[in-house]
Amino acid sequence: MEELILVGANGKVAKRLADAAAHRGFRVVALNRSECARLLDAEHPHIHPDSIVVNCAGSTNTKFCEQNRGKAVEDNVIFAGAISKFCEQRGLRCYYLSTETVFGKNSSFTLPTENDTPFPHTWYGATKRLGELASADFAAKVIRLPLLVDIDDPETVFGKLINRLSSGFPIKCSKICYSTPVTYAEAAEGILDCVNQTNHTDANTFHITGSQYANVYEILSRLSKNRGLNTELIGEFCHDQDQIQLLLRFGGLTSTNRPIIHSTIFEDNANAM
Ligand SMILES: NC(=O)c1ccc[n+]([C@@H]2O[C@H](COP(=O)([O-])OP(=O)(O)OC[C@H]3O[C@@H](n4cnc5c(N)ncnc54)[C@H](OP(=O)(O)O)[C@@H]3O)[C@@H](O)[C@H]2O)c1
Repeated sequence: MEELILVGANGKVAKRLADAAAHRGFRVVALNRSECARLLDAEHPHIHPDSIVVNCAGSTNTKFCEQNRGKAVEDNVIFAGAISKFCEQRGLRCYYLSTETVFGKNSSFTLPTENDTPFPHTWYGATKRLGELASADFAAKVIRLPLLVDIDDPETVFGKLINRLSSGFPIKCSKICYSTPVTYAEAAEGILDCVNQTNHTDANTFHITGSQYANVYEILSRLSKNRGLNTELIGEFCHDQDQIQLLLRFGGLTSTNRPIIHSTIFEDNANAM
């Protein structure tokens, strides 16, 4: 039985990944923050030489990263480098989870792929890009994810919005912020497919995405419709200059020869790429 070590196991993605991996027959070892620190400090860590490590850890809140820049560097860059170095020294396969946010604003309407040069516009995006480089320095592979959706979890962006709509409050949403949305559970399956399919490839960076793109307004409208909520409560959000600075205008696409995650959000294939 293959062993999958999840670093940053208390996070939302790691939890879905643990379930999906166990379902596929992996032996899952889930390490929280203090267990990760102990592993890195251990003189002779007990670890199976064929284990696969997925680094799901990170400071992930854009506003928190802007306001706590040193902490974001520590979690997204320095820790990422330390984990990949640990893996390289022991010959373990390692993957660093990153984000489409390494691509910031774009003057033309083109969604970037993993072959394009990143241009982060937020501290979060910049530290994730540095985390990619720090990980790749020690031979880890990078898996970039799109904006993830869980309408039942009020800690996630769309969960919060759906909660407000369910309570009858109006909402304003951006029509200039695009993504290729998938659910957390779908992303977990996509990550495992990527881990399985990329064992013998020379490529280092994978951009796994859903198969449809849409702006936040369209995504929320679709999610609300699927839930039977009143979509008339959703209006357009007009950004002020400060917000535009922090806004991810365009997400990314996987290049044609890479895995696309099956997405149920736009099941009727409206907005298909
Ligand atoms: N969610 C999305 O929509 C999305 C989209 C694209 C990419 N991603 C990427 O996917 C990864 C996981 O995201 P997520 O949504 O699951 O994040 P999350 O829910 O915020 O979880 C992040 C986890 O990382 C842990 N962590 C942070 N710094 C650490 C460190 N130095 N050592 C050990 N653990 C540490 C945190 O531990 P504590 O609980 O102790 O704070 C937390 O449990 C991140 O790399 C993120 O950039 C997420």
